[in-house]
Amino acid sequence: MATWATLGRVNSLRFAGALGVASLLALLPSTSGAISGAAQAASVLDGVYTTEQAERGQSLYRRHCTYCHHDDLLGGEDLKVVPPALVGLAFSDRWVGKPIAELFQVLSTTMPWERTKLAPAAYADVISYLLKENGYPAGRQELPADLARLGAIRIVATR
Ligand code: HEC
Repeated sequence: MATWATLGRVNSLRFAGALGVASLLALLPSTSGAISGAAQAASVLDGVYTTEQAERGQSLYRRHCTYCHHDDLLGGEDLKVVPPALVGLAFSDRWVGKPIAELFQVLSTTMPWERTKLAPAAYADVISYLLKENGYPAGRQELPADLARLGAIRIVATR
């Protein structure tokens, strides 16, 4: 990005040209959803689920996930393919740097294993519970079951 010092060195004609481009760019965020979405990009540190939602998620987890990943979310060894831990390093190594949308997509296409599928809202609730158990704060807005909005929320390290 050009600094004011570099701008000061260009001649006035080119400076006017640069301003023209700058004002065009300034118009873009309001006309493009993708860009304004990126501008509001949030992370899991911003309180992206509610306490009630995580509680619903915990009941769903107990009903649909505990069997393989266990109540403590530390995973199991009972199966041919080991159900991984869903907290701590196992979670952060796999998901930090990725948008929640990716976790949502993996869960809603592969879990709770084979053919059983939950409703989209149930996956958002279960993800809320996973976020809570991984130490991310609750907030005032529920986590939406909406891929586009989940794509704008990044999973980052807890600290
Ligand atoms: C029948 C056993 C079983 C159930 C029930 C189950 N899982 Fe899994 N899960 C597994 C296994 C096995 C793997 C590892 C799959 C692999 O490595 O291919 C896994 C992997 C995962 C992963 C990691 C996926 C990845 O790509 O890294 C997540 C997250 C997960 N499960 C969450 C859940 C949630 C949430 C539920 C409940 C909605 C659930 N699982 C229910 C067995 C299960």
